[in-house]
Amino acid sequence: MSGKIEVGILGATGTVGQEFIAQLRNHPWFTVTWLGASERSAGKTYRDATPWRLPVQRPDRVADLMVERVTPGHAPKLVFSGLDASVAGDVETAFAQAGHVVVSNARNHRMDPLVPLVIPEVNADHLELLGAQSEARGWSGRIVTNPNCSTIMLVMALAPLRQFGLRQVIVSTLQAVSGGGYPGVASLDIVGNVVPLVRGEEPKMETETKKILGQATQDGVEPHPVVVSASTTRVPVINGHTELATVALETDPGQDALVTAMREFVGRPQEAGLPSAPPRPIVYMDEDDRPQPRLDADRDGGMAVCVGRLRPCPVLGYKFVTMGHNTVRGAAGAAVLNAELLKVDGVLD
Ligand SMILES: NC(=O)c1ccc[n+]([C@@H]2O[C@H](COP(=O)([O-])OP(=O)(O)OC[C@H]3O[C@@H](n4cnc5c(N)ncnc54)[C@H](OP(=O)(O)O)[C@@H]3O)[C@@H](O)[C@H]2O)c1
Repeated sequence: MSGKIEVGILGATGTVGQEFIAQLRNHPWFTVTWLGASERSAGKTYRDATPWRLPVQRPDRVADLMVERVTPGHAPKLVFSGLDASVAGDVETAFAQAGHVVVSNARNHRMDPLVPLVIPEVNADHLELLGAQSEARGWSGRIVTNPNCSTIMLVMALAPLRQFGLRQVIVSTLQAVSGGGYPGVASLDIVGNVVPLVRGEEPKMETETKKILGQATQDGVEPHPVVVSASTTRVPVINGHTELATVALETDPGQDALVTAMREFVGRPQEAGLPSAPPRPIVYMDEDDRPQPRLDADRDGGMAVCVGRLRPCPVLGYKFVTMGHNTVRGAAGAAVLNAELLKVDGVLD
């Protein structure tokens, strides 16, 4: 396999699983050699098991692989997980116990105090928790997670504002239909409509944000004191979650300084030159009608978070719009970037 690291995908047939295959098709370090999904798909070739729905061509080599059950044994050491949350918890634990490094999108382990919940630009240092994870759980493998797709777009925009003392955040989301997996919301419910709740999403945004921005300690993460109030909605957009955020800060450096902080923000992926890292994690857009999901979700391969319209808010201080590709930066691309970070940090050795 030309010296590349072999990887497996749990939940390979789903929306996120397909995006993993798209993200990894020309990856310089990783090559997909193993696929797992439910009993419905196991025993079929990936071609037969999966109605491919992405606009990039499915690699023939992957299409010919047999889909297996999601039990450890044959899979390579590094596995990505895009499993449905109804099964992800137990399956990922079984893989970690069996020595696999599981890089997961699912919600099940995100708030476990010893499981790093990582956005590499924001809290790469939380990988320190892996030592305590292995000791406390007795796993020879590891589990690392990325946040919920809505949380990532918010936290990326908040990270450069941390230096000014984040106190309160109110955020409303306009989430794309692809965020619910396939087939998602019935067309008669979403076309020409807004659904005013994405079930389970609000508590995730409110708690995951505090963990990611918090401080890693010996036995978990001291959550950041910021208070977050989220309202989540589903809108008739295919890809790209848009979020309207208002923030209260402890100091007021002025609007220009906040925009500059966002424009200049970089993290470990940019410093280390990770293959999936966008040149800038935040693309700040000056146009007053941007970002828009149809125009901007694919920016830098879907890995940049686009921010715009930062302006004073008469209630809390400042408000802005943040938007990013939910299945790329919000899911598969986020996990691939986490795996790249694990590689340069020696966790895959
Ligand atoms: N879509 C997004 O934007 C997004 C963003 C962030 C996080 N996530 C999270 O990522 C995960 C996958 O989401 P998705 O949108 O890709 O869902 P999806 O399209 O419904 O895909 C679910 C995957 O899980 C597999 N699966 C379901 N039940 C299973 C079982 N009993 N045993 C083994 N495998 C089973 C499915 O296999 P079969 O095809 O064989 O049924 C499929 O591969 C979820 O945990 C979700 O919350 C999604």
